Amino acid sequence: MTDHAGLVSAAGAVQRRQIYADPAVYEQELERIFGRCWLFLVHESQIPQPGDFFRTFMGEDDVLVVRQKDGSIKAFLNTCTHRGNRLCRADRGNARAFACNYHGWAFGTDGALVNVPLEKDAYFNEIDKTRFGLVEVDQVASYKGLVFGCFDKNAPSLSEYLGDMKWYLDVWLDAQPGGTALIGETQKVELMTNWKLPVENVCGDGYHLGWAHAGAMKAVQSMDFSGFTVGNASVDLEGGLSIAGLNGHSLLATVDGVSGYSFYPDNAGILRYLEQNRPTAIERLG
Ligand code: FES
Repeated sequence: MTDHAGLVSAAGAVQRRQIYADPAVYEQELERIFGRCWLFLVHESQIPQPGDFFRTFMGEDDVLVVRQKDGSIKAFLNTCTHRGNRLCRADRGNARAFACNYHGWAFGTDGALVNVPLEKDAYFNEIDKTRFGLVEVDQVASYKGLVFGCFDKNAPSLSEYLGDMKWYLDVWLDAQPGGTALIGETQKVELMTNWKLPVENVCGDGYHLGWAHAGAMKAVQSMDFSGFTVGNASVDLEGGLSIAGLNGHSLLATVDGVSGYSFYPDNAGILRYLEQNRPTAIERLG
């Protein structure tokens, strides 16, 4: 058990590098953070039909998220309850059942064990199939299209967990009527780094933009980088906010809501769309 005292000093705004490298710290994070928090799984638009499934991870656990016949969504550990073989190897798709490729046990989309090959010969018809359904993620809930799962059945509700962060999510998810959808395929990138580094990068580190992305910015010099001077420290930090203290959640945002789009070529349509819809957004969000 790692003694966390002294690893992070909020008052001094410093932290020991051990928090990124110590396997013992990571083990505790898997249990105390990934084992208890609500974790994002999928957008509802990715699994619209009964039987649609999507494979993802909760911490280190491979998880199968499945649209049910009644329209609800369940999530299961993607592991066969016979001898622990990986059950589904596709990233996404539609299935009437999931059959294990080791001995052929088959599970319904609701996780129930529905077929055991050679049930009479191998088990004398005595196996109680109700005991061997897939292990279900304790809580699954959705917030305006975003589906989350939680391994802790005693955890607060998703709504409570998101808290004030919901308002910021609404800016993105609910500023206009009609909801949101994911367009195109999911992109997955494997980073050989501790999980906290990318989180900190996108939630609190606008400081790196002009330097770390200088190469990309120079490669697309046709774009308008108003507000940014590539490769030096004169990034317009006053145009952005790092917002934290939201029940453990945090984000980066631009103050005017549009300057981030100055990077995109042909951005006139985007800016026009935002301007046209601003009154509706104000009406809905305040
Ligand atoms: S491990 Fe899956 S059927 Fe045996």
